[in-house]
Amino acid sequence: MIELQEVSLCYGDKKILDKVSLSIKDNKIKAILGPSGVGKSTILKLILGLIKPNSGKILIDGVDITPLKESKLYPIRRKMGIVFQGNALFDSMTISENLGFFLRENLRLTEQETEKRVQEQIAFAGLQGYEDALPEKLSGGMKKRVAIGRALIFKPAMILFDEPTAGLDPLSSKKILGLISSLRHKNNLGAVIVTHIIDDVFQVADTVSVLYKGEIIFDDETAKLHNSTHPFIKSILSDKILEQ
Ligand SMILES: Nc1ncnc2c1ncn2[C@@H]1O[C@H](COP(=O)(O)OP(=O)(O)OP(=O)(O)O)[C@@H](O)[C@H]1O
Ligand SMILES: [Mg+2]
Repeated sequence: MIELQEVSLCYGDKKILDKVSLSIKDNKIKAILGPSGVGKSTILKLILGLIKPNSGKILIDGVDITPLKESKLYPIRRKMGIVFQGNALFDSMTISENLGFFLRENLRLTEQETEKRVQEQIAFAGLQGYEDALPEKLSGGMKKRVAIGRALIFKPAMILFDEPTAGLDPLSSKKILGLISSLRHKNNLGAVIVTHIIDDVFQVADTVSVLYKGEIIFDDETAKLHNSTHPFIKSILSDKILEQ
C-alpha cells in the first residue's frame, strides 16, 4: 500500500535520507527502527505528504503523492491514521470531545453516528468512566489509548505510530503493543511503527526496516534480524536501546 522509492531529503544542507526505499504492505505490521535523530518521524511526515522529498517517489495505493497539491492529499491522508509521539491531545477538551473532534471537523456524519463511533472507541480503549475527564486526569498509557482511538475513528486502512511506547512504563508499553497487535486481527489493519526500542519490534512487527545514517541497512522479516552481520545491528541486538 505504501512504497518509498529512492527517497532523498535534506534539511538545509544536511542530508537526512539518502535514496531510502521501502514498502509497507496492507494488513502487516512494519517497524522502522533507528537511533534518535536519524529521520524516522521525517519518514512519517513524507508518507502523509506533510513535507516533500528532494527526489524519489512516495506511492500510496499506487499513486505518487509527491507532486500532489494539498487538496488532493486530503483523501489520501484519510486512508491513514496517525498517533503522534506526544499524543497531541487537546488539553481543554474531554476524552469524548478529543475522540470526536476531527470526525466532526472532517466527515459529515450525523451526530448520532459520530456519537456511536466515539462510544466504540471508548469501549475499545477501555476508557469507560473517563468520557468527561480531561486528558490531565489520565495516565500515559491511557492518553496513548485515546490517541489511538482518535486515529481509528476514521476507520483507516493503515495506522502510523510515532514512538508508541516512548515515555511509558514497561507494563503500559506491553499493553499498548498488545493493543497494536490486536488491531490487525480485529480490524484487519496495517500498521507502521517508528521506534528506537528494539523490544517493540520483536513484540509486534512482521517486518522491519533499519534506518542508519540516512540509509536502510536492513529490510526483511523481523526474525531475520538475528542473522544480520551489520555491526550496527549486532550492537543494537546486544544493547537493546539505541543511542547515537
Ligand atoms: N524542520 C526541520 N528543519 C531542520 N532540521 C530538522 C527539521 N525536522 C527535523 N530536523 C532534523 O532532522 C533530523 C531527523 O529528524 P527526525 O525528527 O525525523 O528524527 P527521528 O529519527 O524521528 O528522531 P527522534 O528519535 O528524536 O524522534 C534530526 O537531526 C532533526 O534535528
Ligand atoms: Mg521522531
